[in-house]
Amino acid sequence: MNFKGIHVVSVRDFSRKDIEHILNLADTFIPIARGESSSTLMNGKIMATLFFEPSTRTRLSFESAMQRLGGRVLGFADPGGTSAKKGETLADTIRMAAAYSDLIVLRHPQEGAARLASKFSNVPVINAGDGAGQHPTQTLLDLQTIRQEAGKIDGKKIALVGDLKYGRTVHSLAYALAMFDTELTFVAPPTLQMPKEMIETVSQMGAKPKLVNSVEEVIAEADVIYVTRIQKERFPDPAEYRKVAEVYKITPEILEDAKKKMIVMHPLPRVKEISPEVDDTDYAAYFKQAFYGVPARMALISLITGVVE
Ligand code: NCD
Repeated sequence: MNFKGIHVVSVRDFSRKDIEHILNLADTFIPIARGESSSTLMNGKIMATLFFEPSTRTRLSFESAMQRLGGRVLGFADPGGTSAKKGETLADTIRMAAAYSDLIVLRHPQEGAARLASKFSNVPVINAGDGAGQHPTQTLLDLQTIRQEAGKIDGKKIALVGDLKYGRTVHSLAYALAMFDTELTFVAPPTLQMPKEMIETVSQMGAKPKLVNSVEEVIAEADVIYVTRIQKERFPDPAEYRKVAEVYKITPEILEDAKKKMIVMHPLPRVKEISPEVDDTDYAAYFKQAFYGVPARMALISLITGVVE
């Protein structure tokens, strides 16, 4: 596909071939992402980061990606200081950002916000998380992590664990993994299982996801365990949250049954789902995963601004 000028709202906007093209390019950006070599690729370009919801990695890695490629960044991390506070609509905020930049990165608490924003923007909009919807650029870095840290994606047994109902990273990732030849297991308490329509879609795409309740059921077989935070802020009822908070915890004891080369991933932030003792084991891939956010986003922004084909 020709990436120049496209909006990136869902991972389903891409084919497997498109994703592989982005990831191959991302691999070549790793030395620049590490600061080992420099680049002027994005000289003269401006990226707007509009974050209506908290973020550490997504915003900083987008900004690092742009700046390391020689581009510039403007935007906000807290809408409290913007005209949204005065009642400005998202559509108008987007029109303004489009007038001041070449590319908009948007995070918003409402599902569908990025799709809406794309209708009002004459520059590309990238969805950096829309409520419990999608998080396509997280998926790019997740896939790059699997390729780099587990060798390849095809043939892998991958378990998505935790809050599969509200977690947008696993929504996007499940779609993408279904484009590859993977064995998927969805590990969640029944109330937080993957939404039905998503299970149906990935099944139509050829995946046959297994649904289970406990990590113990998958730990011995899995090549990748992708752990997620229970999305406290998306529960309508705090009592419902308390029932499922801390249901899963990856500990060194649980990992005793894992394959030697298995990797543990997490989009972060973690709360208590992975005990800190796991950090120093060879299983821990989550901090490396966060780093891959830079090269993966470098690849995407350079393609959609048209500086690379
Ligand atoms: C995730 C998100 O915002 O969806 N974080 C991220 O982008 N790395 C995961 C989360 O908040 O639990």
